[in-house]
Amino acid sequence: MPQFRHPMLVEETHDERSRAAFIASLREYTMSDLYPKLRRHYEQTLAPAYAAAHGKPPESPDRVRAVMEGSQLYTGYSLLVRGTQELLWDTLGEVVEKQLPILIPRAAAARATRGTLELNPRLPIPAYTAAVDIHVMPGGFHTEITDDDLFAGALYDRGVHVFAFGGLGPLNDEMGVATAAAVRRQFPDIKPGKILDLGCGAGNSTLPLADAFPEAEVYGLDLGAPMVRYAAARAAVLGKSIHFSQADAAHTHFPDASFDVIVSNLLLHEMPRPAIMDVLRECHRLLRPGGVMLHHDLLGWPEDPYDSFMMSWTTRHNNEPYERASGTLNFPKDCAAVGFAEEDVFVVAEPGAYMEEVYQVSGIRGARKRGTS
Ligand SMILES: C[S@@+](CC[C@H](N)C(=O)[O-])C[C@H]1O[C@@H](n2cnc3c(N)ncnc32)[C@H](O)[C@@H]1O
Repeated sequence: MPQFRHPMLVEETHDERSRAAFIASLREYTMSDLYPKLRRHYEQTLAPAYAAAHGKPPESPDRVRAVMEGSQLYTGYSLLVRGTQELLWDTLGEVVEKQLPILIPRAAAARATRGTLELNPRLPIPAYTAAVDIHVMPGGFHTEITDDDLFAGALYDRGVHVFAFGGLGPLNDEMGVATAAAVRRQFPDIKPGKILDLGCGAGNSTLPLADAFPEAEVYGLDLGAPMVRYAAARAAVLGKSIHFSQADAAHTHFPDASFDVIVSNLLLHEMPRPAIMDVLRECHRLLRPGGVMLHHDLLGWPEDPYDSFMMSWTTRHNNEPYERASGTLNFPKDCAAVGFAEEDVFVVAEPGAYMEEVYQVSGIRGARKRGTS
């Protein structure tokens, strides 16, 4: 599915688009063709050979790992997936960097037309984010390479589209559309006045909230200044008035009981467990009585040793050290520990707008705060 070409999206020459299309095809090949082939190879050849030698199939992710790391197909798969990831950022990064002199003033002009942007140059960037280039993205989400920088935001917006080979939809809003729909469907009694999107990134998942709740004031926050600078400009050129700020989702600047709805999309899997607990606690503080939080991310960790081993691939090879922390949360108990009632915790399945299979590993978890506003 082609990406919608809005004025903040980096412009590519014919050759640059062709390179991006090649990377998207390579990603699709590794995920849609090679990944299932690898599973068949494990089930039909590697696991039976192990069982013949040991009297039982590999019973833990570590055993699966020992088997898989001896397989040329797995080594080839790993090389290709990691290589494609590096190629993606290198290729698109070059294009975005070249266009910063055009994109930066264009963004400033767009931001002046609608919405707001609040930056906090003194915001401490937590070590768990600063210490790694998450997803192998150079500089992560927060590094600034020039004045008024938006490199990371522009790169992420184009990069995530190529990464998902278009499956997130023309505006990369697959998850945000589902999260907004879940709020409407599950909580028809809530008529939100204020909604907050934590870890909003380039705003891909924030805009669907404005579409679903046109009466509400929508806020988005992110640690990275380049992300919110870009998000605010992108929202403005797409005709949405949204309030963006640079802040830590675990310790925000908003007063108690500020929001009716708080969401996050693909945030928790990037945090270590103590930070996730701080985010849940902050949500409880920020919600009005009767308000609701929804976190769209990994839903638990697979028990099957093969699936568990494959799920940890990104942790070992793609600079995503904390993915397992979000997968192993005991969500009801963790929510109860920060003030929600365990009975008010829920899990919902919301069909994806474009890519059904995403929901096999992810889902929406949340909790409603007791009381009425
Ligand atoms: C994978 S991106 C998802 C972006 C967006 N939610 C979306 O759906 O496209 C994760 C985002 O979370 C942000 N993030 C990570 N830790 C954060 C924190 N403690 N506070 C605020 N944002 C954070 C990152 O900067 C990044 O932009």
